[in-house]
Amino acid sequence: MTPEEFRRHGHAVVDWIADYRATVAERPVMAQTAPGEIKARLPPSPPDQPEPFEAVLADLDTIVLPGLSHWQSPSFFGYFPCNGTLGSVLGDYVSTGLGVLGLAWQSSPALTEVEEVAIDWLRQMVGLSDAWQGVIQDTASTSTLLALICARERATSYALGRGGLQAEPQPLVVYTSSYSHSSVDKAALLAGFGKDNIRHIACDETFALRPDALAAAIAEDRAAGRVPCAVVATTGTTTTTALDPVRAIADVLRGQTPDETVRGQTPPGIWLHIDAAMAGSAMVLPECRWMWDGIEAADSLVLNPHKWLGAAFDCTTYFVRDPEHLVRVMSTNPSYLQSSADGRVKNYRDWGIPLGRRFRALKLWFLIREQGVSGLQTRLRRDLDNARWLRDQVSATPAWRVLAPVPLQTICVRHEPPGLTPEGMDRHTQAWCDRLNRSGQAYLTPATLDGRWMVRVSIGSEHTERADVERLWAAMQDEVTR
Ligand SMILES: Cc1ncc(COP(=O)(O)O)c(C=O)c1O
Repeated sequence: MTPEEFRRHGHAVVDWIADYRATVAERPVMAQTAPGEIKARLPPSPPDQPEPFEAVLADLDTIVLPGLSHWQSPSFFGYFPCNGTLGSVLGDYVSTGLGVLGLAWQSSPALTEVEEVAIDWLRQMVGLSDAWQGVIQDTASTSTLLALICARERATSYALGRGGLQAEPQPLVVYTSSYSHSSVDKAALLAGFGKDNIRHIACDETFALRPDALAAAIAEDRAAGRVPCAVVATTGTTTTTALDPVRAIADVLRGQTPDETVRGQTPPGIWLHIDAAMAGSAMVLPECRWMWDGIEAADSLVLNPHKWLGAAFDCTTYFVRDPEHLVRVMSTNPSYLQSSADGRVKNYRDWGIPLGRRFRALKLWFLIREQGVSGLQTRLRRDLDNARWLRDQVSATPAWRVLAPVPLQTICVRHEPPGLTPEGMDRHTQAWCDRLNRSGQAYLTPATLDGRWMVRVSIGSEHTERADVERLWAAMQDEVTR
């Protein structure tokens, strides 16, 4: 494709995306597709001859679009929002169009320096002190893996430079709440801790981690000769947006003065990582910052601008207080990547796992500039208001129940008609949610809480207004009577 052909087809693609976004509200939100249906409509082998680009675009309409659930729909209330604002989409375009790679600062200096600036803007926007430095990663899952690898290396005085975890005399233990995201367990497993050394700490009635239970678990492990290594606390859990009490957890960890020495040295404290993948975006609102009160005592935190904030997927930010430690753990320095600028610049390859880096910062930079901090704040406040409105409607309606506090934009609800057994109630919950999703009117995610099924209503898609939430509530009430 020549640049002139690209100009022509590129305009057509932009028009296509603009039309899609302009009409997305009219589409059934959840894909109405049977497994295998899309694959069956595609040729099993690749075309031998070039095809006209128009044919590719046409297949988007006829084959691909009908096989998608529409995350940008104003009636998308599933999972958590994943807002790809159009300004940010353009940043993603430019990144791909430039086709540059950040292997080292020198390989694309602006790639590194725009990222440094954009991420520092975000740091200021969420009210973190300048003791933090950040880096863009693909996902929260990767960031939590980084955190646990860094925790492991700090606790073992860099075991990776010796025999690794396999040569450690005592097992290292990771603590997290029973409602933390599955990515925490996955990170602990991949970082080599082993399932036996992951503790799921009990939660209180708000589904937040109980610091007293954490303290007891740490004491028990110490007494048994194991090494408490890291705590992953969540600000805004996936199921209910519960808030683990960061300050109280940090206090527990501070109180854990190790009394043994390892190779003649006092071991460092227990690593505290905060998973604020979803709720971190809310911290652009000063009135929400109590939710992670104590955050300055953490060692690392992850926040996903690709969720509620509006940076096109994928764009996760990982913040640390000790970048030198991160670099020491992640650094490789082959001769072909060295340059005369080393020592004076950031080489972000040493801040994560992949060597090659996309220019992801552009989509965050475009987002912040196009919307402005006040524009972002206005949208998030709108969503918080809508969530409070729905919570109040559900609470005030007979046979409906709100099951967890609503600090943010997710409401956990159950319709509880009298006379049903717990199993019957589970079937009723899953059935009405499934009917509503299949109707195409909205998309909700069922999940279990305290072992029983309920339905999460996650508000915060970019174009969801009060009228959309009102329509959803009417549809929910309608659906339970069918
Ligand atoms: C609290 C929390 N942590 C982590 C994740 C994983 O995010 P990612 O898809 O960026 O790995 C999610 C996803 O919804 C989440 O809700």
